[in-house]
Amino acid sequence: MAAGAGTRMRSAVPKVLHRIAGKSMIACAIDTADALSPDRLVVVVGHQRELVTEHLAEIAPHVTIAVQERPLGTGDAVRAGLSVLPGIAGEVVVTSGDVPLLAPETLRGLVAAHRSGGNAVTVLSAVVPDPTGYGRIVRDGEEVLRIVEQSDASPDELALAEINSGIYVFDAEALADGLAALQAANAQGELYLTDVVAHARSAGRRVGARVLDDYLQTEGVNDRAQLAERAAELNRRILARWMAEGVTVLDPATTWVQAGVDLAEDVTLLPGTSLEGATSVASGATIGPDTTLVDVEVGENARVVRTHAELAVIGPGATVGPFSYLRPGTEIGTKAHIGAFVETKKAIIGEGAKVPHLTYCGDAVVGAGSNIGAGTIFANYDGVGKYTSTVGEHSFVGSDSVLVAPVHIADGAYVAAGSTITSDVGAGELAVSRGQQRNIRGWVARKRAGTASAAAAEAALARAAEEQGAEAAAGEEAGE
Ligand code: UD1
Ligand code: CA
Repeated sequence: MAAGAGTRMRSAVPKVLHRIAGKSMIACAIDTADALSPDRLVVVVGHQRELVTEHLAEIAPHVTIAVQERPLGTGDAVRAGLSVLPGIAGEVVVTSGDVPLLAPETLRGLVAAHRSGGNAVTVLSAVVPDPTGYGRIVRDGEEVLRIVEQSDASPDELALAEINSGIYVFDAEALADGLAALQAANAQGELYLTDVVAHARSAGRRVGARVLDDYLQTEGVNDRAQLAERAAELNRRILARWMAEGVTVLDPATTWVQAGVDLAEDVTLLPGTSLEGATSVASGATIGPDTTLVDVEVGENARVVRTHAELAVIGPGATVGPFSYLRPGTEIGTKAHIGAFVETKKAIIGEGAKVPHLTYCGDAVVGAGSNIGAGTIFANYDGVGKYTSTVGEHSFVGSDSVLVAPVHIADGAYVAAGSTITSDVGAGELAVSRGQQRNIRGWVARKRAGTASAAAAEAALARAAEEQGAEAAAGEEAGE
């Protein structure tokens, strides 16, 4: 079910498209349902259905879409779902698009309990500290009698702590019979799916409730505060799983790892680290502090400090940061180094090469063992097009150079500091491209007379003259 209006989110984005651990809530629900390998998976859409349908086409093209024209309640939503499954028999599992923590094992356990109990309806329930807002499970001893919604409950029923998670297994026939009999004779004037429970019992069918100890899994998202709470809980669970698999997490409270991330044994995550998308980190690597990696592949024993990187590959033993910005298409070779205030984009950095300080390295290839001096700019853009520059192996680009693309610096070549390079440099050559230096004597005394600089220069020159005089006198005494 994903057709509700989600009013309490106060959002232009449909509730089930809000994200948690890098996935939409509807994607979480679909992944969990898929774990049962169902014959058919139907998503009931309604409110803002164009947006939801578009998203489903992208992330889950295998699902069948059913449309609930108006949000008349959960019972009506399931009716809409069944309308695309004509002649259905057997088990129908119903879940909600806004319960993102539900685990596949829980759903499997629910189906197993349904089968072993010989039930027509099995409800997943939980005993929670605060049942406010949920439907309550009304029992007579072990027997489940019915489910009563918050707004229809008597004071005695409101005191019940066992809640309906909104997740069920139904026998298709019992479900269809119950849905056909639904009436909106309740406080909300809606068709309640939960009324199928009482209907099944009155028809002499077995109804069971399976109580889930881990009640946090059943918690839904109705507003932004709950979204944040569920996201934090899911993150805690993801981190707990990685720690169990040998990852050190120094500060779980400030470390965020999304569902699609893959970590190896002996990875260390320092405080303020966020690993997103399809990021993977190989064994022995240390990430953080204060680092965000989105779709980044980090090799064994690499070190990434205070860095923001996206769609980049960081090779084994490479060191990045602090304060580096790696943009899409960056590939850093084995044991290479990217240092402080360096920005890279579509840059291939060879094995052991170094780009240590204050550089823009866009559309660039740097060969193995080369050194790119502080403040070098790969000027890749002429205002119209972008071009690639290449530096060969074991070459040396002096500080504050500009390489105006496209240029090629060959293997073992040098570029003198402060050069603007506009044509290729051959193997072993030194390229110098800057004005000859001239020193104009007495310029400060003439042009800046009366300043502190002029006074300092005058004093220094006087000292030098005095020293020269003393040396000359000493030389005469020694008979030179
Ligand atoms: C529902 C249950 C309640 C349970 C709670 C668990 C009913 C009547 N109540 O209440 O017993 O404790 O879930 O979270 O079922 N939806 C539709 N179409 C509609 C209405 C809802 O598709 O017309 C979808 C929503 O998008 C959502 C799900 O059904 O995914 C639950 O709807 P919601 O309005 O949140 O139900 P609750 O009031 O939380
Ligand atoms: Ca809900």
